[in-house]
Amino acid sequence: MDNSKIKRYTVTAALPYTNGPVHIGHLAGVYLPADTYVRYLRSNKRDVKFICGSDENGVPITLKAKKEGVTPQVIVDKYHKIIGDSFKEFGVSFDIYHRTSSLMHHQTASDFFENLYKKGVFTEEITEQYYDEKAQTFLADRYITGTCPKCGNENAYGDQCENCGSTLNATDLINPKSTLSGEPPVRKETKNWFLPLDKYEDRLRKYIDSHKEWKPNVFGQCQSWLNAGLQPRAMTRDLDWGVKVPVKDAEGKVLYVWFDAPIGYISATKELFEYARLDVWNPKAEEFYINQNGLEKESWEDYWKDEETKLVHFIGKDNIVFHCIIFPAMLMAHGDYILADNVPANEFLNLEGNKISTSKNWAVWLNEYLVEFKDKQDVLRYVLTATAPETKDNDFTWKDFQARNNNELVAVLGNFINRVVVLTHKYFNGKVPMCMEILPEDQQVIDELAAYPAKISASIENYRFREALGEVMNVARLGNKYLAETEPWKVIKTDEDRVRTILNISLQIAANIEILIEPFLPFTADKLMKMLNYGGHLWEDAGKVNLLHRGHQLNDPVLLFEKIEDEEVQAQIDKLNKSKADNTAASATVEPAKENIQFDQFTAIDIRVATIIAAEKVEKTKKLLKLTLDTGIDQRTVVSGIAEYYKPEDIIGQQVSLIVNLAPREIKGILSQGMILMSENAEGKLAFVAPTQSHNNGSTIR
Ligand code: 2FM
Ligand code: ZN
Repeated sequence: MDNSKIKRYTVTAALPYTNGPVHIGHLAGVYLPADTYVRYLRSNKRDVKFICGSDENGVPITLKAKKEGVTPQVIVDKYHKIIGDSFKEFGVSFDIYHRTSSLMHHQTASDFFENLYKKGVFTEEITEQYYDEKAQTFLADRYITGTCPKCGNENAYGDQCENCGSTLNATDLINPKSTLSGEPPVRKETKNWFLPLDKYEDRLRKYIDSHKEWKPNVFGQCQSWLNAGLQPRAMTRDLDWGVKVPVKDAEGKVLYVWFDAPIGYISATKELFEYARLDVWNPKAEEFYINQNGLEKESWEDYWKDEETKLVHFIGKDNIVFHCIIFPAMLMAHGDYILADNVPANEFLNLEGNKISTSKNWAVWLNEYLVEFKDKQDVLRYVLTATAPETKDNDFTWKDFQARNNNELVAVLGNFINRVVVLTHKYFNGKVPMCMEILPEDQQVIDELAAYPAKISASIENYRFREALGEVMNVARLGNKYLAETEPWKVIKTDEDRVRTILNISLQIAANIEILIEPFLPFTADKLMKMLNYGGHLWEDAGKVNLLHRGHQLNDPVLLFEKIEDEEVQAQIDKLNKSKADNTAASATVEPAKENIQFDQFTAIDIRVATIIAAEKVEKTKKLLKLTLDTGIDQRTVVSGIAEYYKPEDIIGQQVSLIVNLAPREIKGILSQGMILMSENAEGKLAFVAPTQSHNNGSTIR
């Protein structure tokens, strides 16, 4: 969108599910880039509303409630508070942090559905859904697990395979099982309301095609959805927790969580303006983190229905289809709303080489970090932005956290600010000295400084926050280099006026850093502002060297950052290792032996030694390799789910044990003739089972 046409911004950050606290992956992927963007806009005096809240209606919440033996409301109340507090303490500056269990949300989502219903947008379809006879309830897709038909992952959920990322219908799963009773579910007829996404395909394609500037990961995912062809999708579910379906014959049904969640952005905006209109002290303001600046002039509708509003959704990559296809289709069907101008989704952050996992407690939880690293919010903000998974998955390690703190925040940024402020106190009683004669080397620094704000703006406006932060740090590097080259601590002995100029320019650099770093590290900017005794300037002042006037009194120096010691990060690594050990111990509980079989049943399985003679990855899968095996009997193809553990080039010549008489089956369009035996350890790692010395291919195994 052309900047000159933008009157205001609506910036949303994905509503987190309230079934657990938030971790560093959430912060790095969604909330920090969103907050940085919004703070930058505010510093540019742009009119922006930053919207978020708790997503309290999904099946994961009901699952958690069942597990803990409490009502879903107890769960959402607990985590709404924990999550909201973490955001607040990390300085994520929402204008409102709302929640989807609120009355406002129920009404808004319900009205939206009704609007589409009255327009005849939905189709009513009777479909067979899975039903758990033991638990006497229809099963939401998340309550069913089974084998993914696309990649063979045996623990896929009914709505999504977390291994290959495919969105699924529960009925696609092979060997489905109810997570409630563990029993295979039966199919039972039920009526639901479907959004015919196929009918919006052309408009969606046009919309997506008009945004070639989107991040390649986002644009690419949208294209592949569209190319695969869109199918009608049920917008209601047989469930008793969520927003009731507001039409006749819909008892026991609620809105699909992905129908109501994005409407949560709208209901939050409404709530924000409702309270502003009341114009009285709002007892809920604390709870909702309401920032009421400027609400009296406009209405929530300006932020959702006016073409001059730029709408940006910050999300993680698993939310792309919902924000770029399904929600836009809903908004198109409604007709009154604008569509997102950008959806800068991030990839995932891993932790110490492994996927962050809530269930395995493989995570750094924000609420725990806040206790263990008191007042170090900006250190985490810094590290997570500097290593943000903007274009590909990235890894967080505690060693890197320590190194970036010690070598960058302490040694570069903190060191520069400290030197300038300490020297000013030492030589000029903490008063900004006058800039005397400007030499060419000073001018060069002044010119370099002047070029930074535009560079940083361009990176932020194009959602490249890592790059932008790198440039801000370069301003501190520029300052350090200037001090190192001009050596005021030596020059002071011979030429005080020269030192006046050097420190004046250095202090102007420090004031610039305050402006430029604020969107990224607001706590540091605040400390710096206090130290410089300087009133928080706006982005338009960045690049200038007249921010602190001659004679202006600085406050005493305080250290912005402190070194993080080995023991502190080791304690964190130990904590993670303990989680891993606990998990391994829990999952290592040896599976009970299966029921006895007869000897004949065993001998019916023909297992032979075979050698892998060719191997290649199966396209578009993460786990599968296509192997050609010399079995001694013939050469044949076998598809095996070992790609995460073996590279094709490393296993040529590897002997394996192969079941040669297993009925062939097609996997990803390839006929797989047999199965390679693998041993699987407690962590799910696979290893070949092979003779300990080379045997001829075709040798029998018994
Ligand atoms: O993936 C999630 O955590 C979802 N709760 C995000 C919802 S975003 C929006 F649509 F509300
Ligand atoms: Zn899969």
